[in-house]
Amino acid sequence: MQIAIVTVSDRASCGEYDDLSGPLIETWLARAITSPYKLTKRIIPDGFVSVRDELIDLCDQHRFDLILTTGGTGPAARDETPEAMRAVLIKELPGFGELLRRVSLDQTPTAILSRQTAGTRGHSLIINLPGNPASIQVCLDTIFSAVPYCLDLIG
Ligand code: MTE
Repeated sequence: MQIAIVTVSDRASCGEYDDLSGPLIETWLARAITSPYKLTKRIIPDGFVSVRDELIDLCDQHRFDLILTTGGTGPAARDETPEAMRAVLIKELPGFGELLRRVSLDQTPTAILSRQTAGTRGHSLIINLPGNPASIQVCLDTIFSAVPYCLDLIG
């Protein structure tokens, strides 16, 4: 299995601050997945073209099984991860975003601001997580049990 973690952040991509969420996803995966997998981490700027081109490259050229993004899902001007998802996904899986917002509201009322979603392109499953490091554990705990079955269905 090949997994990519894509941190979407203008400031992390230019080194203005450290990417905390990407490493938290990496640690979570290392604890949860017992079979061997290959991991790639990328940090890219916000914006439609940046996210769209990265996701298409990971799906079509490198054929990653699972791509987890973090960041760019909110309402700020540069938050365009969901717009890029719409351009990339062949099949949207809206249940991921619906469940994540519902569960995250127990953690913070601002969870309503995340437009995170998920879906498939070919044999790749792409799932958005918010950018806040505090969101990573609750989000992965919530949805990950559905991931292996989804990968089986699209593999
Ligand atoms: N979900 C969880 N579980 N925890 C959080 O702290 N932050 C919210 C929301 N979802 C948050 C969350 C906030 S404040 C915003 S603005 C949106 O996610 C979008 O964040 P993003 O643009 O970094 O993706």
